[in-house]
Amino acid sequence: MEFRVKRAPRIEAEITVPGDKSISHRAVIISALSNGVCVLRGFLPSDDCLRTVQAMRALGIKIEHPEPDMLVVHGKKRLLTAPAGEIDCGNSATTMRLLAGLLAGQSFDSRLVGGATLSARPMDRVILPLRKMGANIVAEGPNETAPIKIHGVKLRGVRHDLNISSAQVKSALLLAGLFSKGKTTVHEPSLSRNHTELMLNYFLVRTVRDEDEATSIFGDQVPESRDFAIPGDISSAAFWLVAAGAQPGGHLLVRHTGLNDTRTALLGVLVRMGAQVREAIEEVDQMEPRGTVEVTGAPLKGTVIQGKEIPQLIDELPILAVAGALASGTTIIRQAQELRVKETDRIAAIAHNLRAMGAQVVELNDGLEIHGRAQLRGARVASFGDHRIAMAFAIAGMFAEGETIVQDVECVRESYPGFEKALDEFANPKRGRLTTPVISSLTPAKVDEE
Ligand code: S3P
Repeated sequence: MEFRVKRAPRIEAEITVPGDKSISHRAVIISALSNGVCVLRGFLPSDDCLRTVQAMRALGIKIEHPEPDMLVVHGKKRLLTAPAGEIDCGNSATTMRLLAGLLAGQSFDSRLVGGATLSARPMDRVILPLRKMGANIVAEGPNETAPIKIHGVKLRGVRHDLNISSAQVKSALLLAGLFSKGKTTVHEPSLSRNHTELMLNYFLVRTVRDEDEATSIFGDQVPESRDFAIPGDISSAAFWLVAAGAQPGGHLLVRHTGLNDTRTALLGVLVRMGAQVREAIEEVDQMEPRGTVEVTGAPLKGTVIQGKEIPQLIDELPILAVAGALASGTTIIRQAQELRVKETDRIAAIAHNLRAMGAQVVELNDGLEIHGRAQLRGARVASFGDHRIAMAFAIAGMFAEGETIVQDVECVRESYPGFEKALDEFANPKRGRLTTPVISSLTPAKVDEE
């Protein structure tokens, strides 16, 4: 399957996006550990999140799926049972890493396998700290890669000082901590998305944030069953926010999206680049802030993205690189070496595709230097099997002369089922369908210093 994209008409739209991927994984796992029935609404029925659902079913949890975005999870008070066979995590690193933490402290053995790309991704980042807690885990692939064989044992809580900011690693260790004796503490160099912490708290599991910003959890707590509504995924909204923001006169409202401030650094970057961005948090009563974002487009200018911002917009870097190509001056992305170990080497993939479309790009070890403003021309580009590369270059095609063909886009199902339909609607807007209400409660998005 491929996307064929032409220069888009002016954007004037109001949209919602499917449920947040990170939050969907966590909602399934934590409700499965709870002491009763939890109804999850807004669940993202993507390939990745369905892997987590299947995994929890394999561990003895009854999960009904009455509607595409609704799950009924029958929590069994932390009681998981040995899976009948290996657990296939597909292409979902979040499933594999979070489950490695969850399964290390169980009273049974398990084996986690994945597809070809997941099997090439680093797992030592969860395996090594879990071993510090006493875990008996063997990576069967070369250099500590999947398959992962776990011999369940009693874990002990320890302090982890991580050398990378990774929400997947932090979450794996907190889940392991829930099944450990004593206190488990996780310190990361700078704060990554905190959905696990918030969701544990929402399910009445106590975590403590220390003065040095480390998070601690005590073992043996039982999550209290509750219903939860998953907000829209700001990382999916990001594609449309950039499209509207880079189009002078473009205007977009995204409703019911997650606005957790460990995920919204993208908005600050768009403001720095010259777009007008306003956000309104309309609800926080389930711990995860959610609301509306409004973007008004402008001629963008280049910016520098690095440091603490990186973990808080790691998934938005492909689309921000496209914004950089559309901006005047230079956009520099540094300290983003994590991009090299995502679904593909995203630094190489972005550089390759942007060059194919006529942009001037320097590939750095830990990022990119993009010289704008590029007159993008339509080209045949590859997804590299990576959903965010596929979607970022579909948006690039909306700004290019001629036709852009993005190849092998099935991978988009991993995070954004319905992207193709939305792309078609942006390309062929139906007059009168979209509304543009004025929201007086919107406040300017926070701008972080460069
Ligand atoms: C995720 C964390 C991030 C992110 C991924 C989802 C999560 O990965 O890139 O898409 O749900 O915890 P890392 O933890 O590897 O940074």
